Amino acid sequence: MAYVIAVANQKGGCGKTTISMNIAGCLARNGYKVLLVDADPQGSAIQWRNNREDSALPFHVQSFPFPTLHKELPPQILQAGYEIVLIDCPPGAAAKPDGKGDITRSALLFAHAILMPVRPTPLDYQASAIMLPLLQDVSFMRNQQKLAVLLVINGKPPSRTRLGAEARTAAEQIFSTEGIQIRVLDTEICTRQTYAEAPSAGKVVVDYDPKSKASEEIQALTKEVLECLSQMIAAA
Ligand SMILES: Nc1ncnc2c1ncn2[C@@H]1O[C@H](COP(=O)(O)OP(=O)(O)OP(=O)(O)O)[C@@H](O)[C@H]1O
Ligand SMILES: [Mg+2]
Repeated sequence: MAYVIAVANQKGGCGKTTISMNIAGCLARNGYKVLLVDADPQGSAIQWRNNREDSALPFHVQSFPFPTLHKELPPQILQAGYEIVLIDCPPGAAAKPDGKGDITRSALLFAHAILMPVRPTPLDYQASAIMLPLLQDVSFMRNQQKLAVLLVINGKPPSRTRLGAEARTAAEQIFSTEGIQIRVLDTEICTRQTYAEAPSAGKVVVDYDPKSKASEEIQALTKEVLECLSQMIAAA
C-alpha cells in the first residue's frame, strides 16, 4: 500500500513545489519508490524535471492537473507499486462555491496526510486560513477517516533562531478546528539560495548540494514526516 501526501495550500508561492519535490528526492535517495504527481496546471514540477534533458531526479514525475485524482490515481499507484506518493497541489481556491471540481479537494479526498507549507508571518497564516472551509468539507466527506494536517514553516530568515513558541501557537490556533488534527512540525525551513538554485539545474537539494544547510533541513523534514506517518498508522 502506498502512502499519499498532498502538499497543499491554496495560498500561492508558499513553497508547495519546493517542499514536495525535495521531500520526494530525499525519500527516493533513502530507497523508497516515489511518485510525484504534478497536479498544478502551471506544471512547475514538470518544468523543474525538464530543466535537464535527461531527468536528474531519482523519482517519477507525472502530470495530472485534474479534479478526478481521487478516482483515477489509486489504481495506477497500486499497479505501479509506488510506496510513497506526493501530490504537488495548485494554488487558488475552488472556482465553484461548493468546491466540486477542485483539484486540491480531489487530492485531499484520498491523501493520508496533508503537508501544508506556510510562510511565517501573521498575514500568511491568515491567507492560508482560506483552506479551512475546504478542510472541513473534506473531513466531513471522509467520514471516519481522519485528516492529518502537518504544517511546515517555510521561509524563515536563516539569521533567526527557531521560530518562537508564540508564532507556532498562532499558526496552530488559526488552523485547529473541530475534526482536523493539526501539527506544526518541529523542522523549520529557512530561506536559502540552494532552494532557489536547484530547480534550474533540474535537481533536488540533496543531490544539488548534499552538504548544504538546505539538504540537512530536507533530510530532517523528511524524517519527521515519516515519523508522523508511522504514528498515524499506529493510531489508526
Ligand atoms: N525556503 C526557500 N528558500 C528560498 N527560496 C524558496 C524557498 N521556498 C520557496 N522558494 C522560492 O519561492 C518561489 C515559490 O516557491 P514554490 O514554487 O515552491 O511555491 P508554490 O507554493 O509551489 O507556488 P504556487 O502556489 O505558484 O504553486 C520559488 O521561486 C522558489 O524557488
Ligand atoms: Mg507550485
